[in-house]
Amino acid sequence: MCGIVGYVGRERSLEVLLGGLKRLEYRGYDSAGVAIIADDGQLHTAKRAGRLSVLTDELQRHPISNGRTGIGHTRWATHGGPTDHNAHPHLGDDGKLALIHNGIIENFSALKEELLAEGYTFTSETDSEAAAVLLGREYAATGDLVEAFRRVVTRLEGAFTLLALHQDQPDVVVGARRNSPLVIGLGDGENFLGSDVAAFVEYTKRAVAIGQDQIVTITPDAVTVTDFDGNVVEVDEFEIAWDASASEKGGWSSFMAKEISEEPDAVANTILGRVVDGKVVIPELDELGDEVLTDINRIVIIACGTAAYAGMVGSYAIEQWARVPVQVELSHEFRYRDPVLTPQTLVISISQSGETMDTLMAVKYAREAGARAISVCNTQGATIPRESDAAVYTHAGPEVAVASTKAFVAQITALYLFGLHLARVRGALDEAQLAANVAELTAIPEKLARVLESSESIAQLARWMSDTRAVLFLGRHVGYPIALEGALKLKELAYIHAEGFAAGELKHGPIALIEAGQPVFVVVPSPIGSPELHKKVVSNIQEIRARGARVIAIAEQGDAAVLPFADEVVPIPLAGPLFEPLLGVIPLQIFAMELAAAKGLDVDQPRNLAKSVTVE
Ligand code: M6R
Repeated sequence: MCGIVGYVGRERSLEVLLGGLKRLEYRGYDSAGVAIIADDGQLHTAKRAGRLSVLTDELQRHPISNGRTGIGHTRWATHGGPTDHNAHPHLGDDGKLALIHNGIIENFSALKEELLAEGYTFTSETDSEAAAVLLGREYAATGDLVEAFRRVVTRLEGAFTLLALHQDQPDVVVGARRNSPLVIGLGDGENFLGSDVAAFVEYTKRAVAIGQDQIVTITPDAVTVTDFDGNVVEVDEFEIAWDASASEKGGWSSFMAKEISEEPDAVANTILGRVVDGKVVIPELDELGDEVLTDINRIVIIACGTAAYAGMVGSYAIEQWARVPVQVELSHEFRYRDPVLTPQTLVISISQSGETMDTLMAVKYAREAGARAISVCNTQGATIPRESDAAVYTHAGPEVAVASTKAFVAQITALYLFGLHLARVRGALDEAQLAANVAELTAIPEKLARVLESSESIAQLARWMSDTRAVLFLGRHVGYPIALEGALKLKELAYIHAEGFAAGELKHGPIALIEAGQPVFVVVPSPIGSPELHKKVVSNIQEIRARGARVIAIAEQGDAAVLPFADEVVPIPLAGPLFEPLLGVIPLQIFAMELAAAKGLDVDQPRNLAKSVTVE
């Protein structure tokens, strides 16, 4: 939830920290702060409630001394409101030490009481300050930041990434992690730490992911990683696969607009190298072995938010193709309900960030219970793939806008590739059926580009509807999760009450919501690919139209049956029934974005949200 960056080296650290925080701001934007050991040997800090721009404006007015070592933080508030006092860094050892934290320290009250009883004082309501004061106490006792860290981490319960520096050790930043992300950037005469590689991709492409319960020390010329007992651990370096420019707006009005425009590439890149001579190959699953895939008798997909809706879409395809029962669950519900898990259960987690705490904990839980776990993830070096038996990466590129768009279509694509692979391994589809589905999938990027051509007419619709107070979304079969996703997008971006329903459920209750002028988006199944469902959904449209609803139909090009009953039709290209969601979701994403923009809202950073939810 919070963004963390650390730096030691030759650059002016303030510029590196503020640049890193800018790229990490999607993780939280309630407050921001930096701590720097300046060239005068003193620790200097600045922190402000509000977006990073509030801090940078403040630093323009009242500059702080710059130096070669620093840490920076952008916060999503958990304990204590978004105030200047609660902003990080927090101080210890009489202001000589600064600490930043991402996560939740569950036993902070007990620690705080212990420290208060010893005469220490606190200036914030945060859990994090307890770690800072404790670290200060241990530093005073040991005179060594790494040793002090070791003592502190064994006292903490919960999830944390901590970074700290001390003015008596001017060329050192120390970090530790448990269940929260931390990545090292390897430079030449400089080294970096970040919540993810976006923090330092401008300076280096060489990165190392830090494992669970490890401590890292960086100096300008060295990086040391140990476990919490001080034993040195081997680390694996990886190369960051994208450029700093990929995480910049590049002339678009928002990151979200840019990311929607990248959806054809997100799908194409996720397919790239995984379809060879018309056949699906997923080398990442080799290590797991085909016998695991033939042995399983059930699949459970776990995810949250948009990723869970991608999972729902995937479940229709995987079950239909591979003939294995597939169930989709929200990660936080799954973990706490004592689910039946056996070695024949395959758990597939889906997470753009790879850091969603609910999903991470659910994956760990499933593996401890004996299930196998595959991760579908978009972020290299993230924790969830590392905690899984295998990972199938989506190649959507960095997604910065809080509202997930290109990751959604890439996740569905990865699940479809997996479904076709599984169907082949289990002999559930013949060669011709596999080839037909592969051809449908590889045709999607070009069709997506065509959907994007209708962006302006959707934007116009959104502008006309900018006073709307509630919107309903209906869909059936794979159109149902698309309806749910359309509603989620509108809620999170435009703060409008929006509900998605299965169209078949309409007469079981939701139709009571229909009154004159109520806007209803309907995701219409293909009249060619799903004639039976198409007829039923057209009947639903007539039922709501008869009660005064304003119908906006997302329908296949040339669907003449819908025209007489819809107020607006947004056409999408023809595609097989299972492939329509990849196209039908785009108008709904654009609609939500444009409506939010028409209301003057921040499309990339909606209120109260953070891109990656790293606390439960
Ligand atoms: O990083 P993840 O894919 O695990 O994130 C899951 C959800 O938090 C995320 O999809 C969220 O619902 C988005 N804000 C939706 O746009």
